Amino acid sequence: MLRRLHPEQPDTFAFTPANQAWADAQITKYPEGRQASAIIPLLWRAQEQEGWLTRAAIEHVADRLGMAHIRALEVATFYFMFQLQPVGSVAHFQICGTTSCMICGAEDLIAVCREKIAPNPHELSADGKFSWEEVECLGACSNAPMAQIGKDYYEDLTAEGFAGIIDTLAEGRVPVAGPQNGRYAAEPLSGLTSLEEFESGRTQYNASAQRAADLGDTIKRIDGAEVPLLTPWLSEPKGSAATKTAAKPAAKPAAKPADGAAGTETTADQGPARKPAALSEPRAGGADDLKKIKGVGPKLEGVLNGLGYYHFDQIAQWSEAEVSWVDDALSFKGRITRDEWVSQARLLADGQETAFSRRVKKGDVY
Ligand code: FES
Repeated sequence: MLRRLHPEQPDTFAFTPANQAWADAQITKYPEGRQASAIIPLLWRAQEQEGWLTRAAIEHVADRLGMAHIRALEVATFYFMFQLQPVGSVAHFQICGTTSCMICGAEDLIAVCREKIAPNPHELSADGKFSWEEVECLGACSNAPMAQIGKDYYEDLTAEGFAGIIDTLAEGRVPVAGPQNGRYAAEPLSGLTSLEEFESGRTQYNASAQRAADLGDTIKRIDGAEVPLLTPWLSEPKGSAATKTAAKPAAKPAAKPADGAAGTETTADQGPARKPAALSEPRAGGADDLKKIKGVGPKLEGVLNGLGYYHFDQIAQWSEAEVSWVDDALSFKGRITRDEWVSQARLLADGQETAFSRRVKKGDVY
């Protein structure tokens, strides 16, 4: 396939300030004279910000890395992951057309794209919201046919279901990623035949789909404000507010389990403070009563909701670095660890009660 820059190009490109800070930090990963090694992450960030790679963006990145423009153009035109033409303002659909998906109905999905989006790949829909292309195997063959939409996989698709997904996105909503036929992951459609003991403790969706639902960034553009800038390889913070947060030491003793909870707080992530995955709104069914966690009153519950934390299972997954970030955000140093929020949340997320939550339930706590 011949890959050329789009004939219509904007005059300029600039990273958002936060993305610029992120890009500057990436470059420090490489020794002096080897800055060109950062070409792919920087081009990718530019694409995440704009949706596609413009000539101005490619040249901006080349200039920043001290490379000849042609060297950056070679990289951008070589890799198919880089979109060299405008994509839909809402979503770009990548339909897998390789063997498993082709056998299981990829052609029907492509027919839906031709009918509902545009007759040809890489062509914008009439309203500019959508675009599509056929891609090679995306590695989800046991859930064929499938499509990547933005950052997430939608699997076990039918033509009707896929058309419905496009309609949902057109209405401004983002369907839950993952299998669309009722399967949890890639198990037999008729149900598990092995490892059945793991069925009870699992999250609402499989790991990838759950993460996608929690992050909620499937089709979002990335302006850099989503997570603090992490530069753990730097001994000194680089000056941005985000870097200052990231560079702060976060190692603290692990929380002890509450009320006989099994296991201990995660200690694997001893890195700098990091914002935990947040939600833009509670999931269907409404927010959990976070006041059932000892140490969370109505005011703190409101603050947590404002930060995008509505559910026990969100808090249950916080690592030490994430606890440190929330500590800062709440301006309540040490409270989360002292009151053992994470281990309490684990029990509550699991449908169990703590001594405190039982008191809340009885109305003994005001
Ligand atoms: S053949 Fe479609 S994901 Fe592998």
